[in-house]
Amino acid sequence: MTTTEPMPTEEITDEAFDFRAYANDPDRITEFSAFNDDVTTLIHAVEDNADAIFTWGYDKGERARLDKLYEKAKVSQWNGQTDLDWSIDVDPYKVLAPADPAEVAYFAENPESPLYKLNEKEWQDLGVESMNWSLSQFMHGEQGALLCTAKIVETVPWIDAKYYAATQVVDEARHVEVFAQYLDQKLDGIKYPVNTHLGSLLDDIITDSRWDMTYLGMQIMVEGLALAAFGFMQQTTEEPLLKKLLRYVMSDEARHVAFGVLSLQEVYQELTVAELRDRQEFAFEAALQMRDRFMRQEVWERMGVDVKDMVKFTLAMPDELRIFQKMLFSKIVPNCKKLGLLDAGDGWLRDRFTDIGVIEFENWVDTADEYADLDEVAKDRALAEG
Ligand SMILES: [Fe+2]
Ligand SMILES: [Fe+2]
Repeated sequence: MTTTEPMPTEEITDEAFDFRAYANDPDRITEFSAFNDDVTTLIHAVEDNADAIFTWGYDKGERARLDKLYEKAKVSQWNGQTDLDWSIDVDPYKVLAPADPAEVAYFAENPESPLYKLNEKEWQDLGVESMNWSLSQFMHGEQGALLCTAKIVETVPWIDAKYYAATQVVDEARHVEVFAQYLDQKLDGIKYPVNTHLGSLLDDIITDSRWDMTYLGMQIMVEGLALAAFGFMQQTTEEPLLKKLLRYVMSDEARHVAFGVLSLQEVYQELTVAELRDRQEFAFEAALQMRDRFMRQEVWERMGVDVKDMVKFTLAMPDELRIFQKMLFSKIVPNCKKLGLLDAGDGWLRDRFTDIGVIEFENWVDTADEYADLDEVAKDRALAEG
């Protein structure tokens, strides 16, 4: 894990470590240079330590719920080139919906704010930059999902899961394709490299030798957050091409998160408390890295705003303004609960999600229960067929 101060080992009791201060430490969050050094390098290699696993058990449907997902995935495929209307003209200044006025006021009208002196034009530019940054990060995350699900095809020992994961590889290729095309054709190109927090999390997930960690890191944490973030943007943007693109991507993502939940439910039943604690710590670190990436440090650097001041000011934001930041966890927390991760052992992960102020989502619907409702592609097909 890439952090300034390591998480406590067994010798240190939890009481001796202030997780809340650790989570909200601006030095930890801004440790990396805002722009990574990889900008001019096309290739980034990561060591993958997992064994590739053959199975000679070919009984299709042995895991009925995974088999059902696989069959659903096959009929819910869509084509980014023909199912989306790329002829729509996009004005980059009109893609973003108006932000929450109270949140804007916090940053614009507070003399302590690093954004206090921004003029009208700079605010508009900030919106355009933030949109390009967000979609660039979505695209990089999608490539992470593409590599992770290819890895799951290799490493998971169950045939039904290999079949399903193979469909997800195609889904993720399509997602990378449509985000890259949108940035290239509609938004002035891909201007941002992968955010350092997101990039190091993706590296950690690929590097881990335990196959269930790919599931936890990608299917539950990264994709759970993506599903919530896409949903937020899908509801707020008025731009019709992006709205439909996100709606279709979300149809797939809901299935992907359900795949993670249904698979890990079985695995976690067999794990010891100590093994579950490892998973809880991994989930917490992943949660922090994903929350921290939304500090948008690359945007501040590009805009000439001091990154650490901005991080400090963002961390000091009153709780009632943190609607977006909290909503990012609206899928992760109920899914972790369904997996038994919140309360395993002494409830360590429940305490951590309480520390970062997102435990309130624990009783929201989990994705294994709602994925079919989110399948807009299937609904469109049914409509078209009358
Ligand atoms: Fe995806
Ligand atoms: Fe996905």
